[in-house]
Amino acid sequence: MEHKEHDDEVTNTSGNKPFEEVLEANMSRRKVLVGGLAVGVASFLPATASAEHGWMKHGKDWKKSYVGKGRRSRLMKFTPVTLADAAASDGTMPLISPDYDYDVLIPWCEPIEPKGPAAQVPPVSAADQARQIGIGHDGMAFFPFPEDKKSNKTNRRGMLAINHEFGGNKHVFGDLTKSDPANLEDVRISQHAHGVSIVELKNKRGKWQTVNSEKARRIHVNTPVTFSGPVAGSPLLENLNGNIPLGTVNNCSSGPTPWGTYLTCEENFNGYFGAHKNPGAWTPTEEQERYGFSQSGFGYGWEKFDSRFDLSDPEYQNEQNRFGWVVEIDPFDATQKPVKRTALGRFKHEGATTVIGKNKRVVVYMGDDQRFDYIYKFVSAHNYRRMLKKGKSPLDEGILYVARFNDDGTGDWLPLTMDNSDLAARFASEAEMLVNTRVAADIVGATPMDRPEWISVAPNGDVYCTLTNNSRRTVADAANPMAPNADGHIIRWHDTAKHTGTSFKWDIFVIAEETHGTEESFSDPDGIYADPDGRLFIETDGGQQDGLNNQLLVADTRTKAIRRLFTGVNGDEITGLTMTPDRRTLFINTQHPGNGDPSRTNFPAATDGVTIPRDCTFVIRRKDGGIIGS
Ligand code: FEO
Ligand code: CA
Ligand code: CA
Repeated sequence: MEHKEHDDEVTNTSGNKPFEEVLEANMSRRKVLVGGLAVGVASFLPATASAEHGWMKHGKDWKKSYVGKGRRSRLMKFTPVTLADAAASDGTMPLISPDYDYDVLIPWCEPIEPKGPAAQVPPVSAADQARQIGIGHDGMAFFPFPEDKKSNKTNRRGMLAINHEFGGNKHVFGDLTKSDPANLEDVRISQHAHGVSIVELKNKRGKWQTVNSEKARRIHVNTPVTFSGPVAGSPLLENLNGNIPLGTVNNCSSGPTPWGTYLTCEENFNGYFGAHKNPGAWTPTEEQERYGFSQSGFGYGWEKFDSRFDLSDPEYQNEQNRFGWVVEIDPFDATQKPVKRTALGRFKHEGATTVIGKNKRVVVYMGDDQRFDYIYKFVSAHNYRRMLKKGKSPLDEGILYVARFNDDGTGDWLPLTMDNSDLAARFASEAEMLVNTRVAADIVGATPMDRPEWISVAPNGDVYCTLTNNSRRTVADAANPMAPNADGHIIRWHDTAKHTGTSFKWDIFVIAEETHGTEESFSDPDGIYADPDGRLFIETDGGQQDGLNNQLLVADTRTKAIRRLFTGVNGDEITGLTMTPDRRTLFINTQHPGNGDPSRTNFPAATDGVTIPRDCTFVIRRKDGGIIGS
């Protein structure tokens, strides 16, 4: 989500700027450009950094440049979408490599099962929206059925879990002039358009489609949920009203776990709260300010008709603490209550990328997407299989760390535990610390980053993280070398002890601005996926240069060559990325096509006669049936 409505927000006033003194040259982006960007930025790392990166067996080219500059790649042989193709297009339809095809799947308001309430031109009723695909398609994961494991059926059917991040009021009401809900029904329509859809998909004669399924379900803002981990049972999650925990919101990125569940991540939850009944009586606490709570939020207006979201209602004094978590969902059991895993901390969770670390402990990498916020990882206390066998969740017991990127190419994972005397002095309990994870991370001295978005782990253990942009950065540091950082970059690190250690080495993989004016042009990296062959898929969310709409590109992590596979339509962002196990079917999304305005595009209306643009999923395949990205 390119958060236009709160684009100027910076909530980290901790002053954690560890490199300001070190990098006294003040590496202004523009200054660097004058002297030759590639060499200039690379020189911020000491000469020894390269040699110490023993894990970087891919070569030394990173020192010369942060982009491939059109290098060839044996991994990517497809014909790219070119700048000339984009220039010749009016942007109302997607563009795709001539070697690939796409189909449209599950647009907003389609029923989650064929027998469900029929798609209508919005506004739909709140009751129908609760059984239809939500809006704001984002992170997703494809889950083959365990019983298909030994057959090719794993690539022909399965469950798709998909996040519905957000929809502005004018979008969900299907009325560009309607910016406020008029009543509780309007609020419920909006609430039911958010959350998660779980659908069963089948490939019938080459076309993927939803099928009737007892496993299909919608999870939205009013679905009962439960809490687990150190904060469960804390008074900080209880309201005077006594209402049970309900719902998940602003579900951004996501990730599958090794045990077959779906982790959905609550990002800009603060924006759904406002002060309505008694606004004069509400002023934000220090902690609420750190999370960006404000009188009117992002303008959804839920607080006007649903007191749960009214910060000035003393009956719901802790409702806000129930959001900002990673939520675990079983995609195969529609009766399972989603579980908020509090050990993973409370912040604007972009995603949750799980890998199996040393001694089969499970490691979850997570970004907090705000200017000057942090990158985290959670390491489970024990072997995840043993924990599961004992009926314990590996996500309930372990250590949460936050990253410090040192200027010499090394980094440290700083534990957020009550063993730290500064944290013990600030918080009365581990629960209070986790509810205020951002404050704890400020105290231990984490490195403020340029809006951490997705994280993906390559098979060789390299971890890639998109830093989408930061127009407010005035002082560069080694890990965030642009000031301002208008277009973002991708950072890469390699942890010690197979992801479970407390130190790492890092480098910059690509700086987006360096690609401009070339066929590799992109800005604002957001979604990423590192495939088993060494490709890195990059999705964008923001104003692209060189006449491009938002896009999906493929990079070769060895040569850094980048190729454009797909571009979206006017006003959209490209989000979500998952594949079938054989990697011959790719699912990605368009979010907010046309920004809801049919004069910019009415995609994918041409396929079904609906007259406004709608978020939807693309099913992408190589025409020759080959591996996606090749
Ligand atoms: Fe929901 Fe940071 O993108
Ligand atoms: Ca984004
Ligand atoms: Ca994102």
